[in-house]
Amino acid sequence: MKQLGIFVDRKTLSNAEQLNALIRCRNVVESLGHDAHFIFPVDIGKIPRMEALFIRARTDPMNITYVAARMAELHGIPVIDDPASIRICGDKINMYSQLMKKGVSLPETRFLSRSENSVERVTELFGTLGTSLILKEPSTSFSLRVEMVATIEEFFRVARRFIKLSDWIVVQQYVESRYDWRVGVLGGGTSLCL
Ligand SMILES: Nc1ncnc2c1ncn2[C@@H]1O[C@H](COP(=O)(O)OP(=O)(O)O)[C@@H](O)[C@H]1O
Ligand SMILES: [Mg+2]
Repeated sequence: MKQLGIFVDRKTLSNAEQLNALIRCRNVVESLGHDAHFIFPVDIGKIPRMEALFIRARTDPMNITYVAARMAELHGIPVIDDPASIRICGDKINMYSQLMKKGVSLPETRFLSRSENSVERVTELFGTLGTSLILKEPSTSFSLRVEMVATIEEFFRVARRFIKLSDWIVVQQYVESRYDWRVGVLGGGTSLCL
């Protein structure tokens, strides 16, 4: 019998869908003969007593979920999401740079710095990436700061907002998709696609 910690916060539990998923997860863990413990931020000190940790709260290198992931890592406890993934994926400039370096195919992507935000550069981006562009503020999650723009005016309107939050913005080719794919990577290899 193993002890699985599920790190949650109030926000996760206030969503009925998430709560049901967590209860199903706990039932599956128990049906496999293990124990599942919901761990709240105030109980973070319980992590070293676990044998695995599953983080089900918004991961961000600047919040407590990162502390939970680091604590597990320091105690040699397998953790999802692991701290390195949180660091990389919490910043889309870092994440896309890593993907490009490893030759993973992704929509045509450019990084635009605050000083490059000129009419010439934006015109060139529309010329090379297409008539609709996707702009992202690098720390976005849950699609919060991901917007599509189709004109130079729209581009500047969105970019001005994003540039207030970050020195860089991500500009991407628009790729139409009828299904929002999720790809998971475990242990650097095994992947799941849903
Ligand atoms: N290049 C793109 N072309 C078309 N749709 C996109 C593109 N990038 C993102 N999207 C849409 O926007 C959503 C949010 O983008 P994503 O990069 O996952 O940011 P976030 O981390 O904020 O969720 C995606 O799930 C997808 O539906
Ligand atoms: Mg997303």
